[in-house]
Amino acid sequence: MIITIDGPAGAGKSTVAKRVARRLGLPYLDTGAMYRTCALKALRLGLTRPRDVLAMFRRTRLRFQGRRVFLDGREVTRAIRARRVTDAVRPLADSPIVRREMVQRQRALGRRGIVTEGRDQGSVVFPRADIKVYLTASVDERARRRHRQEGGSLLGIRRSISARDGADRRRRVGALRLPRGAVRIDSTRLTVAEVVDWIVGQALTLTGRPADN
Ligand code: DC
Repeated sequence: MIITIDGPAGAGKSTVAKRVARRLGLPYLDTGAMYRTCALKALRLGLTRPRDVLAMFRRTRLRFQGRRVFLDGREVTRAIRARRVTDAVRPLADSPIVRREMVQRQRALGRRGIVTEGRDQGSVVFPRADIKVYLTASVDERARRRHRQEGGSLLGIRRSISARDGADRRRRVGALRLPRGAVRIDSTRLTVAEVVDWIVGQALTLTGRPADN
């Protein structure tokens, strides 16, 4: 079974996707972490041209182990969340050639079933997914959630989220949009458990398995 969860930054995709994956016994893929890992290595090597980044990425080993991310054998779980990495991702995520490579790797990883989250998973990478979710929440709520997790300036976080929303929607390839056939869930007033239960319920209905918590 393939379940895609797309949506803007801070909508709760990772938390929801991880829990859904655990409940259904499926692997979980954070595609944002793939872009972040690529950006981290490009930063370390001083690469900026998409062609150079692509050549580097083709020789790069990525490994996901639960919540942990490994780049060429070294753990980068925390390093990829740094502000400078978040800032460096955008040009890579806007590059059609880098995206094409990401899409291929994501399809290979998801071949045998997956819960995958990102911006283009239901629209581009797995257009025939069994369940497609577009998870969103108001900008204010998404900023508050990030602020609770990471601290810092609420206003600054809100500005950065709005800027990323714009960039994610405007890019020429892989732009964030409601995938065809996706269910739009606005989580502004929902708990994580409510969203997870709904998706798991849909999945169990499709497979005919009884619900177990
Ligand atoms: O979800 P995130 O904040 O970790 O994503 C990091 C960046 O990667 C963000 O700028 C959007 C981009 N991204 C993308 O373009 N396509 C995806 N499938 C996942 C993330």
